[in-house]
Amino acid sequence: MDDNVFAASGSVSVGTQESRRPARTTFLPFAVPHITQAEIDEVVDTLRSGWLTTGPKTKRFEREFAAYIGTPHALAVNSATAAMHLALDAIGIQPDDEVLVPVYTFTATAEVVVYCRAKPVFVDVDPKTCNIDPGQIEKHITARTKAIMVVHIAGVPAAMDPILAIAHAHNLVVIEDAAHAFPATYRGRMVGTIGDLTAFSFYATKTLAVGEGGMLTTANPAYAERAALMTLHGISRDAWKRYSAEGSWFYEVLEAGFKYNMTDISASIGLHQLARSEWLLARRRAIAARYTEAFSHYAALETPYTPDDVQHAWHLYLLRLCPERLAISREAFIQQLAQAQIGASVHFIPLHLHPFYRDTYHMQAEDFPVALHAYQRTVSLPIYPGMTDSDVDDVIAAVEQIVKTHKK
Ligand SMILES: Cc1ncc(COP(=O)(O)O)c(C=O)c1O
Repeated sequence: MDDNVFAASGSVSVGTQESRRPARTTFLPFAVPHITQAEIDEVVDTLRSGWLTTGPKTKRFEREFAAYIGTPHALAVNSATAAMHLALDAIGIQPDDEVLVPVYTFTATAEVVVYCRAKPVFVDVDPKTCNIDPGQIEKHITARTKAIMVVHIAGVPAAMDPILAIAHAHNLVVIEDAAHAFPATYRGRMVGTIGDLTAFSFYATKTLAVGEGGMLTTANPAYAERAALMTLHGISRDAWKRYSAEGSWFYEVLEAGFKYNMTDISASIGLHQLARSEWLLARRRAIAARYTEAFSHYAALETPYTPDDVQHAWHLYLLRLCPERLAISREAFIQQLAQAQIGASVHFIPLHLHPFYRDTYHMQAEDFPVALHAYQRTVSLPIYPGMTDSDVDDVIAAVEQIVKTHKK
């Protein structure tokens, strides 16, 4: 049973001529977190406990997340961005080092490389998944290349075996940006146990949502130790305990660290989201199946591709428009969805099109043709566990109506 605290939204009988489906009376947001009374009670318990920042609940969340993923080390932080920055620091990235980054991603994946005064070197993506294309990696490797960032777009794990083979051959570290990929598997292995270090996001729209939060996982004890030190100002281990009965007032600053620790308020939410993660995934998967079933009847629409050897986390449902069969632009398509009270979005504007990356690294739109083409025709539809079956029907009806009205 769905005990989400957010009320379901409704429809009234207005109807389109073709489908006679009633128009929505309320706007369906693009993303809403799934919050139950259990999260609310846990947060209240934390507030009453007097321990708001990193403490026992954060440590429990780390243990339970590590057990779920099957990794020896999980470090709770305040974002995936923080986790990726800690990962680059842990592997010792130096100014002027190069890090390969897929161009089809959110800015966080590349900006952390810039934080280290290293250089992001962009790589085009696979046309089916929009994940880094293993066949494009080697031509970008130089003597300065130290690592490959791998992003699992929408929740589809990238082709990790070929990527790991290239990394191994060139002595490169593999860092996974798994902001979209909880819980996901590749060839039976859980994302979070595959590359050298993996960063998860618990941002408000993500599959496990605490507001702002993230987790860094690794099997490498040296990386884990360095990240644990750097996440809280570079002060001696268990610094968070210094105000507890077990702690001591004395601490030493060993490095110029960061302020990336998770709060117990966030961990309170995370503990219950984690416990419900299978149910949450099942619900997203069911919505995706309904969309794909409906949209595969239209030649003007391309439904998301899922390789056979992965478990998709279904963070995003990326529908692609086929412009040769549709007399409507992607922008107008999204506007018409909004008029039908359906929130939609676009993931992603490839990084080489953004002024900062374009101008700093002297890139042209055509430098990454696969990413450019995918970007121009992608629409992200709402996909979250709190959607009712009727919400899903509304999205399908709105998309079908636009396609039927504008087919070429
Ligand atoms: C691919 C990708 N990487 C990283 C991030 C950053 O996550 P966070 O907000 O937790 O830092 C996002 C956020 O949307 C993302 O989509």
